Amino acid sequence: MKLGQTLLLIFGCFTLGTVAFASAPTNLDREFWVTIGQDAALQVEKSFGFKYASNEKIEFTNGITVMKVRESEMDQISHVMHDKFHRCGGFIGHDSLDEALEWANNDSERFSAKTMNFTDYSINQGDNVRAMMTELSATNITNTIQRLATFKNRYYKSQTGQDSQKLVKETWETLVQGRTDAKVEFFRHTGWPQPSVILTLAGSERPQDIIVLGGHGDSISGYFGDRSANHAPGADDNASGIATLTEVVRVLMTSSYRPKHTIKFMAYAAEEVGLWGSKEVAQQAKRENQNIIGVMQLDMTNYKGSSDLDIVLMSDFTNAEQNAFMGRLIDEYVKVPWGQDRCGYACSDHASWHGQGFPASMPFEARMNEMNRRIHTPQDTIDLSGNNAQHALKFAKLGVAFAVELDN
Ligand code: BES
Ligand code: ZN
Repeated sequence: MKLGQTLLLIFGCFTLGTVAFASAPTNLDREFWVTIGQDAALQVEKSFGFKYASNEKIEFTNGITVMKVRESEMDQISHVMHDKFHRCGGFIGHDSLDEALEWANNDSERFSAKTMNFTDYSINQGDNVRAMMTELSATNITNTIQRLATFKNRYYKSQTGQDSQKLVKETWETLVQGRTDAKVEFFRHTGWPQPSVILTLAGSERPQDIIVLGGHGDSISGYFGDRSANHAPGADDNASGIATLTEVVRVLMTSSYRPKHTIKFMAYAAEEVGLWGSKEVAQQAKRENQNIIGVMQLDMTNYKGSSDLDIVLMSDFTNAEQNAFMGRLIDEYVKVPWGQDRCGYACSDHASWHGQGFPASMPFEARMNEMNRRIHTPQDTIDLSGNNAQHALKFAKLGVAFAVELDN
């Protein structure tokens, strides 16, 4: 790379200093420009006591700041970004002011503080994750699925749909007993009686950053009118997802895991009638400006419909970067074949989060055209999965890996 040549570098944790200025004369403390989020720019200035070398910056209404900096200051900026924002990179270096302005002005959609994904997707908690993974029990998942499937239904309007959510709340409360950093609450909805359930594990270092693992707690059977009296065991859809989440919670607790970021587990109400519960939860998060750094949706985890694939990442209504991270987590920890598919519509609660601009993923049990055909019928029972939860166990492993790696 020659000096003077147009230079566009996205500074990441691993590229700084190695790629950036390989052929620049070492005695030259070159000046250049960075585009950076306004919030981050302020922290960077603070870290220099507002006396960084050039002291020149231009602010834009779209939340972008262009700052003139020296090459020798880059390490410190990188450090601030990582330390204060948990971002690997998150600022872009430009060779000329013109180029920086062009980015800040013309590319505000791509480079807006809102849409740019600064999340650190590095994988470095191997020992921790592997130790917890070995504690996961398929038998526990089986038992929870069976217990949830004994309700006549978990329909959003029926009494049993409220009772089943009460059971989820009590189960999670038992698991977090004695932890002063944990609470389990109902999220009540105004339009229907079934509440969502939210377990919050408060972060010890960055409680304002929130990781969400969720699935829907309701079930349904039949296609018309009030289905309060129908038999809807929903063993796969979605007792399997709730049971998988429950086992992840259990292992985090028995491992005495204390998260740095806040981790929330959610059992949404009223998914089967239009993603209603998750929609209200995600809307509130957006309204309150909550910093949701990642969402994992577990909806149907225990029916192995595809013989050659174990986990299918839905690529629509989800975040591509986070999905790539999921793929790496599967390779690293779950070690099963995975692929991608599309629902083709807003098929589950991940779409509610995605719709509010939060990064969501939906690891699913099979390819779309090989899915469990008995969902939404009285035949959605666990014997379709051989009365065991070996398939769901893979998703529990992925859940542990996602929570712990995103937390670090
Ligand atoms: N678990 C299903 C979604 C699903 C089914 C995903 C098959 C992939 C393959 C979910 O509970 C559901 O039934 N969703 C509704 C959508 C909603 C907007 C009413 C559906 O698919 O009809
Ligand atoms: Zn369903």
